[in-house]
Formats: sequence, C-alpha cells, structure tokens
Amino acid sequence: MNKDLLCLLDLEPQDFTTLFERALSLKARHKKGIFDALLAGKTLGLIFDKKSTRTRIAFETAMIQLGGHPIYMSTQDTQISRNEPAEDTARVLSRYIDCLAMRTFDHDLVEAFAQSATIPVINALTDAFHPCQILSDIMTVIEHKGGYENVRIAWVGDGNNVANSWVNAAAVLGLDLIVACPDNHHIKPDMIAASGADTKKNIVFTNDPKEAVKGADVVYTDVWASMGEEDELEGRLKAFEGFQVNEELLKGAKNDCLVLHCLPAHRGEEIAESVLEAQNAAFWDQAENKRHMHKAILEQLILG
Ligand code: CP
Ligand code: NVA
Repeated sequence: MNKDLLCLLDLEPQDFTTLFERALSLKARHKKGIFDALLAGKTLGLIFDKKSTRTRIAFETAMIQLGGHPIYMSTQDTQISRNEPAEDTARVLSRYIDCLAMRTFDHDLVEAFAQSATIPVINALTDAFHPCQILSDIMTVIEHKGGYENVRIAWVGDGNNVANSWVNAAAVLGLDLIVACPDNHHIKPDMIAASGADTKKNIVFTNDPKEAVKGADVVYTDVWASMGEEDELEGRLKAFEGFQVNEELLKGAKNDCLVLHCLPAHRGEEIAESVLEAQNAAFWDQAENKRHMHKAILEQLILG
C-alpha cells in the first residue's frame, strides 16, 4: 500500500482485498475475545476539524484494542488554529506519533500534511472523500451478500464526499454502481474524470431515483446537507424531493435489498424512519465494521 490513505484511488485492487480479509478476520477474532497487541508502543494522532461520533471512536478503540494509544486533537486546541503551517505541524508530529488520521473541510490540507509528514496520514473525511467509510461499507456488503461481484449498488442522494468515494471504489474494483442525484447536486465532472470511471460500462449516472433502485441489491444514501452545508438545507429539501429512501422507492429494488447509510441519518429527510428502524437493518453492522476496518488500515499503514 502507499504511505497514506487519502483517497480510494490510492489503492490497488489487491489492497482492497487485503483490507477486507484482514478486517473480517480481526472482527472474527474480536468476537472470540482474542485481541492482538500488534501496535503496542505505537501512537495514533487524530486531528479533527469537524464533528464525529463513529469515525473518531472507531479509530480510538481500534488503536486501543491493538495495544496502541490514540491522541485526539481538536484543531482549536493546537497551534494550527493560530496558523502554524501544515508543513511544520506535520514534520513536528512525525517526531512524536506513528500515524495521523485527519478530518478536515479542505481536502488539500490533508494532502499538504501527507506530503510533509514522514508518517502515514489517513483521510477520516474531507469535503471531497470518505475512503475509510466505503472500505467498511463494502466489508458490510461482503458479509451480507457474500461478495461484491454481480452486486448492483445504487446511490440515491447528494453527489457528496461519500458518493465520490463510492465512484472511486467502483472505478478500481469494477463495481456495478448507479448514482442518482438531483440536477445541480451531481458528482462533479472532474471527480468522475479523475476516478477513471467507465461511465459507459459499470458506472452510470442518472437524476431518476426509481431508475437507480430498479433491481438493486444495495441502496445507499447519505444526508442531503453535509457538514459545512447546513445553511443550504432549506433549498436542498426542495431539490431532493423524491429522493427519500422509503418503502415506496424500495419496491423497485430486489426483495432482499440491503439498505445502507454511513450515518448520522436524518429521519424523514434522506431516509424514512421505518426503513431505518427495520428489523434486519444493516446500518449498525456498518458502524461496527468501521472499527475493524480501521484496525486493518492502521496495521497495514503502520507496520507495512
Ligand atoms: N459515518 C461517519 O463518518 O460518522 P461520524 O461523522 O460520526 O464519524
Ligand atoms: N456527507 C456527510 C458524511 C458524514 C459522515 C458529511 O460530510 O457530513
């Protein structure tokens, strides 16, 4: 694997396979009460400029269960908030810690840290991408569907950071992906071009949610206004009419369709309460899998 994990385009198909296999194995060992102190003596720094429940706690508990230590740093509590350059902070932190996970608005900031840091840098979500999320989501697909080959995945909602990472995963792994976004909220053309996605083959874009879910094995949605876009919510509620993942929309999908959401969810907006509370809901498996996938990522990047 590359030194850093900033974007799923950094990974080769074999890297995905290694991470899925390792995360599933670590999860199985965890269920048996076996903990491997593989990262004893190692420290993970977390610099978060946006809120987080799952990603932060999954990284912190992953590190602790592997025998290492996490240190959480809000940007407000560091000299970053007083404009110490990314290049200097990255070089200094490289002398103290063994890996850095970052959640920022601007993706370029994570890139700048990675360039100057001698330690691995992990993207824990930026405005552009959420790579670790999609790794644990595909792990969830593997658990529920037995694999991801011949699995039709429909994205219904905003063309946001999570959607961008799905397109990247689909481009590298050849996933069957259809992305439905309302006009003016599509994935940016430069994102699609950068991914190398074959839009004539396995990755299709539409503005029709019904077309997207037709025959889908997996339907995925996310909030209509991401962190930093809260002021746009009113306009977005109108723009996204018809894009709610609810029982009516899901009638077009396969009967055993798996509904996924990275969470946090807004009930009654992008997803209906009844879908979120369905008995066989996989959202909680998705959240659980983040910890095991984060363990696999940390092990790969820190130990190589
Ligand atoms: N899915 C996810 O990244 O959740 P958090 O924002 O709570 O970390
Ligand atoms: N698209 C959402 C994902 C949160 C996990 C956001 O960026 O806020």
